[in-house]
Order: sequence, then structure tokens, then C-alpha cells
Amino acid sequence: MIIVIDGPAGSGKSTTAKAVADKLQIEYLDSGALYRAVTLIYLEANRDSETFFRLLDQKKITFYYIDSQFHVCIDGASVTDQIRTPEVANLVSKVAAMPKVRTFVNELMRDAVTDGIYIAEGRDLGTAVFPDAKLKFYMDADLSERARRRYNELKKDNPGLTYREVKLNIAERDRQDTSRDKDPLIQSKDALSIDTTDLTFEQQVDRICLTINE
Ligand code: CDP
Repeated sequence: MIIVIDGPAGSGKSTTAKAVADKLQIEYLDSGALYRAVTLIYLEANRDSETFFRLLDQKKITFYYIDSQFHVCIDGASVTDQIRTPEVANLVSKVAAMPKVRTFVNELMRDAVTDGIYIAEGRDLGTAVFPDAKLKFYMDADLSERARRRYNELKKDNPGLTYREVKLNIAERDRQDTSRDKDPLIQSKDALSIDTTDLTFEQQVDRICLTINE
């Protein structure tokens, strides 16, 4: 059984989905982390398409959720920290727009979801990857609020980073994610909308847990 949360960057999907997974003791799946890992392979290929798709074929991406952390490995080596750098954040939406990349990540996810209950988060899970999901949520918040949250998350590991840079990155990713041809970011017709601009974290978690338990 699968529950999905889609929405743009900084809307609160990841933190909320993890808290729900921990509270209800279910599995968690972060599709954005997989696109970020694929972006590392694109960087390793020096942005050359042919080399990139060859490497993508050869390398093995694995992932697991433990102690409230979604871990990603490439050929057995952890890239969990590396996938969060501004370099990856600036490139990931371009890589994620490639149809072959989307097919690749979708297969990784569908293969992973076998037994058990999952909460998965991303951009197109309710529309394209798991259209038959048992419950679908769409989380959103004002751009400035989303940028503020992401800036607060990133600033301790990236001392030079400014709020303005983060806001520009998020706005640009929104633009790329909503305008790509294959599986753009769009609210699924049957998804429940949650605007988190004025909600506290606990309120977001409670709202989702209550709906799941209904
Ligand atoms: O955590 P944040 O919301 O910043 O982004 P993420 O979930 O880590 O996803 C990073 C990027 O991957 C997004 O900006 C999208 O370009 C892409 N992505 C996607 O295209 N489809 C998904 N299902 C998930 C992420």
C-alpha cells in the first residue's frame, strides 16, 4: 500500500513524510533523493550525455530509510550528504527533465515498493508513478516561506549561502519542474490539498496522520 505526497521544494513534504513514517511505523521513500543521486552520476560523466547514460546503466543505486534518515548509495558507497550540495540542487531539475532519467527513477521506485506500507514524496508520484496510490496529498506554500525554510535548513552547512540564492534556486526549479514535457509537477485531481504557509510542523503531521487513520 502506498501513500504519496507531491509538491514543490520547501513545501514541507520531506520533514512531514518522515515524521508520519516514524509515527505510524511505515516505510519512507524520497524520490527527489534518487534524482539527486542520478545528478551526481551526470556530474561524474562531466555532463556528457553518452557517458552519462552508459554510467547510469552500469552503476547500482540503492537506498534505505533508517533512524529518520533516507540513505542513498551508488555502488555501495554512501552519497547521502553529497546529494544535498548547492551544486546538485542547481542541476537536478535539468537532469530530472530527461525522459530516460524519469523512466529509470520510476522503475527504481516501483521495484522498491513491494510488501508493506509506504509513504513516498516527490513531484509526480500521484500523477505518473503511483496513480493508484491509496491516498494522495499535495503540499504547497508561498515561495518566500518555502525559501525561508530551505535557507534555514542549509545555512549551517553552507556558510556563504544567502537567502536570495536559495529563493532563486527554488523559483528556477519550480519553473523547470512545472514546464517539462514528461510528468511535470502538477496536482493530481484526486489529491488532497494542504497549504502549509501558516501551519506548524505538528499541524501538518497531524493532518496527514488523521486522514490516513480515517
Ligand atoms: O527536497 P526538495 O523539495 O528541494 O527537492 P527534492 O525532493 O530533493 O527533489 C529535487 C529535484 O528532483 C526537484 O526539484 C525536481 O526537479 C526533481 N524531482 C522530480 O522531478 N520528480 C520527483 N518525483 C522528485 C523530484
